Amino acid sequence: MPPASNGKLRVAAIGDLHVMEDSVAPYRELFTEIGNSADVLLLCGDLTNFGKTKEAEILAEDIRACSIPVLGVLGNHDYECGQPDVVCSILREAGMIVLDEQAHEIDGVGFAGVKGFLGGFGRGELAPFGEPIVKAFVDEALSEARKLENQLRTLRTDRSVAVLHYSPIVGTIEGEPPAIFQYLGSQRLCEPIDRFDHVKAVVHGHAHHGSYEGRTPLGKPVYNVAQFVLKPLLGKPYTVLEI
Ligand SMILES: [Fe+2]
Ligand SMILES: [Fe+2]
Repeated sequence: MPPASNGKLRVAAIGDLHVMEDSVAPYRELFTEIGNSADVLLLCGDLTNFGKTKEAEILAEDIRACSIPVLGVLGNHDYECGQPDVVCSILREAGMIVLDEQAHEIDGVGFAGVKGFLGGFGRGELAPFGEPIVKAFVDEALSEARKLENQLRTLRTDRSVAVLHYSPIVGTIEGEPPAIFQYLGSQRLCEPIDRFDHVKAVVHGHAHHGSYEGRTPLGKPVYNVAQFVLKPLLGKPYTVLEI
């Protein structure tokens, strides 16, 4: 496969695979196609439908057949069965780099990723006030933002991509009912992204009915790569960014 002629890395991204336990090689053909047109594949969470062992094993087989490096994060669906560590280790055994605590570098481009969390945006943002459970809820979003920041700080590359499941901005969830915006992401994830100059793009999933492109307050491009957003727009369930 020839590299991009402009010296950039071709980064394919897709979110919300939702692999089910009765699927048969659901992404085998697609991953082969992506391997022919990109240098790296990012999976932006909700890799499985319920976080079942069998679902993860089915996806793992397709990851094994992919000819380019596969990196990504888990989504809320991957937690549903209460065994995200099992899902994670099955995918890691298949060669996927599951981002969570540690950033990764490929050909001069850094990748930092976390699942992220809920919490809302602007006036709709939940504040850590009152009951302990409200504070714990907010703390989860803060902890995900901190993990992202720690990874971004370790990168020594000029260019990096932040990989998330939940959205860091409102722009890419527009199209969803405003009443559920606070369940689709948290603006707290945006702070580390805008703090580091080397972040050139952000990809996330989760908002199946959101919008493809948005910008952080400092103007960095954010892409909602949920396959249900991409398919009607691009005619294929993934996008390829040049970083
Ligand atoms: Fe999803
Ligand atoms: Fe999700």
